[in-house]
Amino acid sequence: MATKRGRKFLNTPGPTHVPDRVMNAMHQPTLDLSDPEFLDVSMSCFLDMKKVFNTEGEIFLYSSNGHGAWEAALTNVFSPGDKILVPETGNFSNAWANMAKALMLEVETLPGNWRRAIDIEALEEHLKKDTKKEIKGILIIHTETATGITNDLPAIRSAIDSADHPGLLIVDTVAAAGTVDYRMDEWGIDVTVGASQKGLMMPPGIGIVAAGEKALSATKETTMPRLYWDWKTRLEAEHYRKFCGTAPQLMVFGMREALNMLFEEGLENVFERHRVLAAATHAAVEVWGQAGTLSLNAVEPKERSNGVTTILTSDGIDAGQFRDICRDEMMVGLGGGLGDLNGKAFRIGHMGDINAPMLYAALSAVESTLGYLNIKYASGGVTAAIEYITNVKKNETGPFSF
Ligand SMILES: Cc1ncc(COP(=O)(O)O)c(C=O)c1O
Repeated sequence: MATKRGRKFLNTPGPTHVPDRVMNAMHQPTLDLSDPEFLDVSMSCFLDMKKVFNTEGEIFLYSSNGHGAWEAALTNVFSPGDKILVPETGNFSNAWANMAKALMLEVETLPGNWRRAIDIEALEEHLKKDTKKEIKGILIIHTETATGITNDLPAIRSAIDSADHPGLLIVDTVAAAGTVDYRMDEWGIDVTVGASQKGLMMPPGIGIVAAGEKALSATKETTMPRLYWDWKTRLEAEHYRKFCGTAPQLMVFGMREALNMLFEEGLENVFERHRVLAAATHAAVEVWGQAGTLSLNAVEPKERSNGVTTILTSDGIDAGQFRDICRDEMMVGLGGGLGDLNGKAFRIGHMGDINAPMLYAALSAVESTLGYLNIKYASGGVTAAIEYITNVKKNETGPFSF
């Protein structure tokens, strides 16, 4: 392969580009496990993650990825044989449901349309039919990374309440955290699952779980075998127990810096930056798509994710090859189509430590790859994105972080 100069751009919907500040914060010597310098930083992360999720509940940090955090949530609040409901959103709801089956849970699915958010009425109807209240928990993917669709959590809460259903509401905000508002306590969410490597601007390696009162009480009765994931020992005072052993020290230093960056910018501004970058991406795809070969997967604009855009490719386009060329020739890493969309879509991540010029680079590489592969597209997508952002800057008052 020819030598390439300059930086490779990472526009997958996780992992995302890690800011230099976070990398530098991690570049330090490891410490004695009981060094107060580390303990203070670590405990401040447990406290400050509560602000990210807007909860007074307990935070659990795992040396894991999102799958680990999924398993932590399931093993702590359910017992083998418990029935749960998983509304289908796409690849990740299916994968979480499969994990639940492997853990001997009885899984009911609510079939879904991969181009739309969860059907709230259908969810309410399903829960109303559970007159014996056998469903112990409802697993929701906040942003389904495969489809680029964000679900309406307050509406989901209302549907559960209207059905007068006691099931635990368990939300995967792995791909949504740090891109869109999230209010765990206000929205009646019992367990939140997150991971470090997307909107939270850290490298992969920390799984994050938050548990509210109802979940902390449920965990006392559950019989699922668990040790590493167990909340009980992690709530003990000794710091060593909080990670069930040696803490991923350097990752924790990175987490501290990422949290500092989020709070410095202000969470509201972080969400607004993501909203604007997402809308600019949609504007670009809508222009390219006028030639009939590309389209936004999320058909309803208000359901589109702030952090990831899934673009469907028409028959005859090799979406896998498209992604390879974009990465290897144009230096921009994109996400591929997942599950049912394998080979039929690619995904642009616009989450985390990203600003307008970084987005322009990614969109330009996509437009360039379309031309390089002789795929029919209407030119002007990048210009549409630039114009969208320029108009936002002109018409709103700053300060702008994008
Ligand atoms: C919504 C969602 N949940 C869970 C996961 C699984 O996370 P991980 O790959 O870190 O195990 C992902 C990964 O992309 C995701 O997007």
